[in-house]
Amino acid sequence: MAEPPSFASRDPLSPQFWDERFAQSFTPWDRGGVPQALRDFVARSPRPLTTLIPGCGSAYELVVLCAAGWDATAIDFAPEAVARGKALAGQWEKRVVEADFFAWQPPRPLELIYECAFLCALPPAMRPQVAARWAGLLAPGARVAGFFFFDQAVKGPPFGIDRAGLDALMAPYFDCIEDEPVSDSIPVFAGKERWMAWRRR
Ligand SMILES: C[S@@+](CC[C@H](N)C(=O)[O-])C[C@H]1O[C@@H](n2cnc3c(N)ncnc32)[C@H](O)[C@@H]1O
Repeated sequence: MAEPPSFASRDPLSPQFWDERFAQSFTPWDRGGVPQALRDFVARSPRPLTTLIPGCGSAYELVVLCAAGWDATAIDFAPEAVARGKALAGQWEKRVVEADFFAWQPPRPLELIYECAFLCALPPAMRPQVAARWAGLLAPGARVAGFFFFDQAVKGPPFGIDRAGLDALMAPYFDCIEDEPVSDSIPVFAGKERWMAWRRR
């Protein structure tokens, strides 16, 4: 396998870290499309949901949600990611916004936060802040749903979690209501991710 390019930024908490990697097209987390489990989730949803995609990267999912009539917004704090997301979003490019997940304020109450390689992009020490922010953005009954990465490796990103750790992280705010294997993972996540949905209490 080819060596990854060398990068100046080693801090995944900085937008520069992600900008550099997008700029050099070193994006091994990028699925190149929309995972089947999200398509299934949209198809079985009784109605469109006001949705946030935090750390959206290429934001392929935005088009599927908007085309289904969902009020979806994709945010990312890395300008290169936002440029890429906007380019792929076509008529919905205004729904891709440059913003920090920890500061962005929703214009309308959210019903869903879609998780895809965002939690695992951040160092483990940030997890309590991510879970608290999810909880702060969602009213009771609203959900976090998407892909959760389970792994023991210390080095990342991606930083995997173990099941007990995820349960402990979510327990103060959320109940797990869906937990399924994933059939179409890309190599980085293969055999190590699950589709999960968590409902805000
Ligand atoms: C591993 S990538 C995943 C991108 C996309 N969700 C995907 O699955 O292809 C993580 C993304 O989160 C973004 N990100 C990291 N911290 C962020 C923050 N605090 N606010 C907004 N975006 C953030 C990065 O810029 C990067 O695009």
